[in-house]
Amino acid sequence: MNIHTYEKLWLIAAMVLIVGFIATITYGSVGLGITMVGDQQDTVEPTELDDERFSDPRVAQVGENEYEAYVTAQMFSFQPDPIEVPEDSEVTFYVTSRDVIHSFSLVGTNVNTMVIPGEVAEMTVEFDEPQDYGVVCNEYCGPNHHNMEGMVHVVP
Ligand code: CUA
Repeated sequence: MNIHTYEKLWLIAAMVLIVGFIATITYGSVGLGITMVGDQQDTVEPTELDDERFSDPRVAQVGENEYEAYVTAQMFSFQPDPIEVPEDSEVTFYVTSRDVIHSFSLVGTNVNTMVIPGEVAEMTVEFDEPQDYGVVCNEYCGPNHHNMEGMVHVVP
C-alpha cells in the first residue's frame, strides 16, 4: 500500500462515521425504553374544548396494548396529571391547548411537540418499561411557565 491508499481509507472511514451519525439522529430511537412512532396535526375549536375528546382529559384503552391519551395544556398545567399508562403499550397522545401556545415534552426523550390552541398535536409513543417521565412546557406561556409540568407514569 502506498500513502494514497491510506488516505483513501481514512476518507472512507470518515464518511462512514458521518453517515452513521446522521442515521443515528434521523432514525435513532429515543432511548429509555420508548420509541416515538408518529407525529401529526389535527384541529379543534379552542373555545369548544367541550368537544367530547377534551372535555374530560383522560387515557382510554382502545386495543389490547393500545391507548389514546387526550391531554389539554393550559396555564400552567397539563390534564390529566399524572397520565398513567401500562408498560409494553402503544399510546397515541392527542394534545391541545385551552389558551396560549405551550409544548408537551417528555423529559429525557425526543417526544416533544408544540401545543397550539385550535390544533391537535398527535404523537404515538411506545412505552416498553415502567418509568416516570416528567412533562414540561418549552414554550414561554406566562409568568409561571417554568412551573408548568406534569407526569407520565408508565406502570408495571
Ligand atoms: Cu406552558 Cu410554558
